Amino acid sequence: MTQPPVLILGGRSDIGLAIAHRFASQGHPIQLAARNAAGLEAEKTDIALRYGVEVSLHEFDALASDGHGAFLDGLPALPRIAVSAVGYMGEQAESERDMAAARLVMRSNFEAPAEVLALIANRFEERGSGTIVGISSVAGDRGRATNYVYGSAKAGFTAFLSGLRNRLAKKGVHVVTVLPGFVATRMTEGLDLPARLTATPDEVADAVWRATEKRRNIIYVKPIWWLIMTIIRNIPEMVFKGMKI
Ligand SMILES: NC(=O)c1ccc[n+]([C@@H]2O[C@H](COP(=O)([O-])OP(=O)(O)OC[C@H]3O[C@@H](n4cnc5c(N)ncnc54)[C@H](OP(=O)(O)O)[C@@H]3O)[C@@H](O)[C@H]2O)c1
Repeated sequence: MTQPPVLILGGRSDIGLAIAHRFASQGHPIQLAARNAAGLEAEKTDIALRYGVEVSLHEFDALASDGHGAFLDGLPALPRIAVSAVGYMGEQAESERDMAAARLVMRSNFEAPAEVLALIANRFEERGSGTIVGISSVAGDRGRATNYVYGSAKAGFTAFLSGLRNRLAKKGVHVVTVLPGFVATRMTEGLDLPARLTATPDEVADAVWRATEKRRNIIYVKPIWWLIMTIIRNIPEMVFKGMKI
């Protein structure tokens, strides 16, 4: 049986590509949407040959919100599953000094992915089916001094996904929020990440695939992150504000 297409927004991302491989391995055609999409020819050929599925490339800049409607109209088919792996961490210190830098982090992690997913959600609602997967972050669970610009944008994105899920629950459209914890990717290159708390992109992809199959709502890729963030969320603000974590 032919599987429905899967759209990956941020199709060059390490996590996004791993998700593309995971779904392609199950026979799903893949739509990779990214900036400079033509540069993804090698990845396209690799996925297509490896799994024998159709792979298409689509030029997509999440920040160019005026073009999102035309971008969706240009897809070969409305996907059954749309994954947003768009994100940009930036540098917290730079975001504190330079508001243009802060704005780019906030827009890249919240406004831009939320805007395109909102349009996709409306089309899925009209069709009466579809799954939206948003890669958010545990950084959005509580603002911390070391990454609150990125974290607050992810908090907005997490809340947006929650509202979308609530709105569409009875309309045949499912929304999965992914909270990966640390993942070894281009984004975290050079950071000293604890191995036990760090997932690989393939682990994230497996978790996403299972979550879409089982219609899970919110997933922490490594379950220990649920425990860590539950503890962090419950530290009283009086204590939390003096902590360095
Ligand atoms: N790595 C981690 O530890 C971690 C943890 C939690 C959550 N996440 C989230 O996981 C997602 C994937 O990140 P990753 O770790 O795989 O890092 P990554 O390889 O740096 O992926 C981020 C992707 O977002 C794309 N992007 C940024 N702004 C865009 C825009 N305006 N239009 C289109 N694409 C845009 C980038 O595109 P270009 O290739 O064109 O730059 C890049 O491919 C992100 O949402 C990230 O915040 C990562």
